[in-house]
Amino acid sequence: MTAEEQTKEKTISDGDKGTYQFLATMEELRKDGQLTRWIDDSNICRHFGGPVGYHKAKDGVFTCLWHNWRYSCADGACLSYPGLSLRQYGLKIDGDKIYINLLG
Ligand code: FES
Repeated sequence: MTAEEQTKEKTISDGDKGTYQFLATMEELRKDGQLTRWIDDSNICRHFGGPVGYHKAKDGVFTCLWHNWRYSCADGACLSYPGLSLRQYGLKIDGDKIYINLLG
């Protein structure tokens, strides 16, 4: 089963903490040391909504594909225009699977 199929199929509930959905396996994350998934417009640039995370990160920095705004991999801080950080999401690891809470 592909990661995309798993994303559609599996959603877990975590009580009051909200709903998490499957993001990827730890093996996928380890494979390249960088993992990018486009889920419900979750990784959009603060400038004009371009895709963030599709360039290979370099020196701990992601660069937006559209106009080259730069973001810290560590915390999503915008290095081009401080104060315009990427949105952050809750993660949960269950065994080898990584889940994301797009609501918080
Ligand atoms: S949309 Fe990302 S830099 Fe413009």
